Amino acid sequence: MRLPFFFARRFVAGESFSQAAPEVTALNNKGIAATLDLLGENVKDKAIAEETTREYCDLLEGIRDRKLNATISIKLTMMGLDIDDHFCRKNLFVLLDKAKELDQFVRIDMEGSDYVQRTLDIYRDARSKYGRHVGIVIQAYLHRTRDDIAQLADENADVRICKGAYKEPPSIALQNMPDIRAVFKEYTAELLKKTDYTRIATHDDLLIDWTKSYARENDIPKDRFEFQMLYGLRLNTCEALVEEGYNVRVYVPYGTMWVPYFTRRLRERKENIWFILSTMFKK
Ligand code: FDA
Repeated sequence: MRLPFFFARRFVAGESFSQAAPEVTALNNKGIAATLDLLGENVKDKAIAEETTREYCDLLEGIRDRKLNATISIKLTMMGLDIDDHFCRKNLFVLLDKAKELDQFVRIDMEGSDYVQRTLDIYRDARSKYGRHVGIVIQAYLHRTRDDIAQLADENADVRICKGAYKEPPSIALQNMPDIRAVFKEYTAELLKKTDYTRIATHDDLLIDWTKSYARENDIPKDRFEFQMLYGLRLNTCEALVEEGYNVRVYVPYGTMWVPYFTRRLRERKENIWFILSTMFKK
């Protein structure tokens, strides 16, 4: 049985770009940038991966046509990573050709741990060909991240750092919040020190406040990093950060394949279930 979209609307901006675009405009009017995500993952069919690539290209054109202050975030499993790496890379390069033509930016989201090495390999190929038009995501909770961060910082990569959203075993990822926060700070500091621009993706006040203090104490100006949050969460905090002069970007997901994304948001935080229940009783 398919859940009605009604349940997801708290976290998902619409089932189509035309529904999501006004939400982006509203954010932009508040001084908040966006990154649009056409939802979906784990495509097993070549024709669908190619169709998705075309839809991502159309999305870049839609952003240009509507003059949105937005980039895009993509998942390589939408572009054929489950089919074969070469095919996926080819699709990504088609998209990056379009991004380069439109002077746009594509961020590669990070998925479950089985995909990390292959995602980084494809990202590095893309980075060497398309430079500043492509960026990557790093999940602080993975044990391997200490080495990955050191290398990406040396490469001056454009990194979004987040805690990590997938269920991973203790052999692969840290499991408790104090440990994850500690490494998040360590890796964020390394990125802030060594790279041109860092994207800090969290709703966690402890990490937001820590970042502000670290930047202040180390003379890192506000235009060298941004905070990123998810659509539907902590808009007041985003607005307050903009008011304080920080750069803020909201991740705006849309599309019909919203169930896995929605499920991760519910698993992350039990309070999110209350958000959903409360939206059920609002018009
Ligand atoms: P977390 O859920 O750990 O909560 C910690 C504390 O923050 C809470 O106890 C509370 O104090 C505060 N808090 C959190 N949410 C709040 C709310 N709504 N209201 C008030 N307080 C709140 N993951 C991944 O694996 N790959 C990816 O590519 C991405 N991409 C990504 C992009 C962006 C822009 C974001 C914000 C996140 C991701 N993530 C992700 C998800 C990320 O890994 C992580 O699962 C979630 O951000 C949850 O962790 P947080 O640090 O945000 O808060």
